[in-house]
Amino acid sequence: MLPEKLDLDARHRDRAFAPSSGVAIVTTCDGAGRVNAAAYGSCVRVSHEPLDIAFTAYASHDTVANLGEVPEFTVNLPRFDPDLLARLQTVGLPFARGVNELEKAGLTALAARTVRPPRVAECPRHFECRVGWTKAWDGRVMVVGRVVAASADTDCVDERGYLIWDRAKPVHTCGASYIDMFVPAFEPVAVAPNYEGPERQAYEENARRMREDG
Ligand SMILES: Cc1cc2nc3c(=O)[nH]c(=O)nc-3n(C[C@H](O)[C@H](O)[C@H](O)COP(=O)(O)O)c2cc1C
Repeated sequence: MLPEKLDLDARHRDRAFAPSSGVAIVTTCDGAGRVNAAAYGSCVRVSHEPLDIAFTAYASHDTVANLGEVPEFTVNLPRFDPDLLARLQTVGLPFARGVNELEKAGLTALAARTVRPPRVAECPRHFECRVGWTKAWDGRVMVVGRVVAASADTDCVDERGYLIWDRAKPVHTCGASYIDMFVPAFEPVAVAPNYEGPERQAYEENARRMREDG
């Protein structure tokens, strides 16, 4: 028997979409080189080759103002570690423009390889981006960046760049409604289609190619 469905009130739709997406500390710089950091739970990889990452910020954010001056940002992915996530929450507090949130949260700025906004040393994965495009709507700005360099803690990826899940410990945000909740995302399970037609063969070949691609 199929399950019964409940129509979700507009207020409840965002809650039902949890976990919403990856969570990151995004660093930017203003024209004078002052570092800014902010927490973003709307971070998604929108294209895989070349690699593009998007996030959405309120237009009033220092992050957006900085991107207008220096169109570069670094996405720092935390691990599921309550101490690091508490620091990420501090980075998300509304400090005045020009305040370095990394210092407030007791996090360490590490020079990026190619862009001005620094990496956050305590985060195990870093994606350095140049802004590709932005789109303003409803008081928000969506930012899409092209990844120009990436780095990771040596114990978090294998020699082919695959994550060592229980070291990288990826984490998702549950969305605004849940405020301070995070979901661990490091028990991946392989799942194949429940369909045996000819399209399945192309899928198998693609999966094999992906596995073999060094
Ligand atoms: C876990 C978490 C996720 C957040 N996600 C977003 C988001 O996706 N979009 C957004 O506009 N603000 C988000 N915020 C709020 C910003 O981090 C916060 O407003 C911050 O002060 C903006 O910093 P800035 O003005 O220095 O750019 C989030 C905060 C936290 C703690």
